[in-house]
Amino acid sequence: MTAVSALTAATVALVGLAAPAHAADPVLRDLAATKGVYYGTAVTSSKLSGTYGAITGAQFDSITPANEMKWGTVEPNRGSFSWAGADRVVNFAEANGQQVRGHTLVWHSQMPNWLANGSFSNTELRTIMNDHVTTEVTRYKGRIDHWDVVNEPLNEDGTMRTSKFYTQLGESYIADAFRAARAADPAAKLYINDYNTDGTGPKSNGMYSLVQRLKAQGVPIDGVGFQGHLILGQVPATLQANLQRFADLGVEVAITELDIRMTLPATAAKLAQQKTEFKAVTNACLAVARCEGVTVWGFTDSDSWIPDVFPGEGAATPYDAGFQPKPAYYGIAEALGWTGDGGGGDPGDPVPTTGCAVTYAVQSQWNTGFTAAVTVRNTGNSPVNGWTLRWTWPSGQSVTQAWNATVSQSGAQATAVNVAHNAAIAPGGSAGFGFNGAWSGGNTAPGAFTLNGAACTLALS
Ligand code: XIL
Repeated sequence: MTAVSALTAATVALVGLAAPAHAADPVLRDLAATKGVYYGTAVTSSKLSGTYGAITGAQFDSITPANEMKWGTVEPNRGSFSWAGADRVVNFAEANGQQVRGHTLVWHSQMPNWLANGSFSNTELRTIMNDHVTTEVTRYKGRIDHWDVVNEPLNEDGTMRTSKFYTQLGESYIADAFRAARAADPAAKLYINDYNTDGTGPKSNGMYSLVQRLKAQGVPIDGVGFQGHLILGQVPATLQANLQRFADLGVEVAITELDIRMTLPATAAKLAQQKTEFKAVTNACLAVARCEGVTVWGFTDSDSWIPDVFPGEGAATPYDAGFQPKPAYYGIAEALGWTGDGGGGDPGDPVPTTGCAVTYAVQSQWNTGFTAAVTVRNTGNSPVNGWTLRWTWPSGQSVTQAWNATVSQSGAQATAVNVAHNAAIAPGGSAGFGFNGAWSGGNTAPGAFTLNGAACTLALS
């Protein structure tokens, strides 16, 4: 069908336009270096080429494998190891002059089944854990700057999480893991890491007491990681003070998994607020002398865990799904001392606008059916990240089959949602999709379309 191939060609052209950062854009790793911190990102090893690889290498001076060093990945069957993904990350880092945060050695989640479901005596479990730490840390000895030795040891109320390790071994599992890691690579900085400890509160207090106890026992702990999985509008006001009180215990601190999620769809106003919040979190680290750096948990919205785990939420990272820097990216740069102009949200910047223009064309029609093509153009000055286009059929039509969008219908109302490859529409850019419909009696064109709830202008052709 010619309509399909024409639309496919248009989509390919749009994707081709999505070039990496503009020439004048700042380089986060260089800016971070002038402030004495690193700026890192979590990565997916299989994606480290093309535009994704280019941005990872150019912008960040630390990388964290999002999954490749977890126990379930490296030792899926007892005694049989799979290091390919982890090796790829470490090799990439070395080729690009980057540090590596090793993530993570002992964690209640993403354990291999043989470990999670196996039953072991306490002595055996302790040996298994110590051997695992020793094996993995030894493999990358001298090549990992920071290790998240123990991940997420706490409950929300600050008590110890009843993981397999805690339940069988008690709190001493933590001391053992750190001692094994130190013995295997004395140069690596050893961290404990958790979420919802970013601001002061019961969980942060629990971490504070735990670190005090570990230090008192002479456990070789160098740092505390604050994951920083934050919600738009809920960045803790106490972040800086909280980082500082841990630093005052005599440990390094770092933001290790920063993302700031929002309810979709993203709007210009939400993205502007997100810029302010990425800037504030970065500033909080910079204000604490022992804060070593910040890592974002994925630099692009197309590589973020948020939409999978928090349905309806997303747009949590500094680049959109088409690798265009979002306002948040410029917020980070500004915190790191950049004085250029970009991303909006500053005095004198244009006020963000949203808008859309739809063209609707019936391309062919027969006695019971028709084929239509829809193009939606972003006429605002800020990117669209994910879209839902709605219209109402005036004369009883229905959509029977669609391409380049997922279209559903309820009564007379049709709803088209982007597919992955056309989720992002840059200002001035467009996305197209097509469908076959059924009609009888009349096939009058829809009179109005809305994009993410806002009315679009409409041209029929
Ligand atoms: C996440 C990964 O990003 C996902 O790909 C995976 O499916 C689940 O784990 N806290 C952590 C990270 O310490 O390891 C988690 O990473 C996100 C929450």
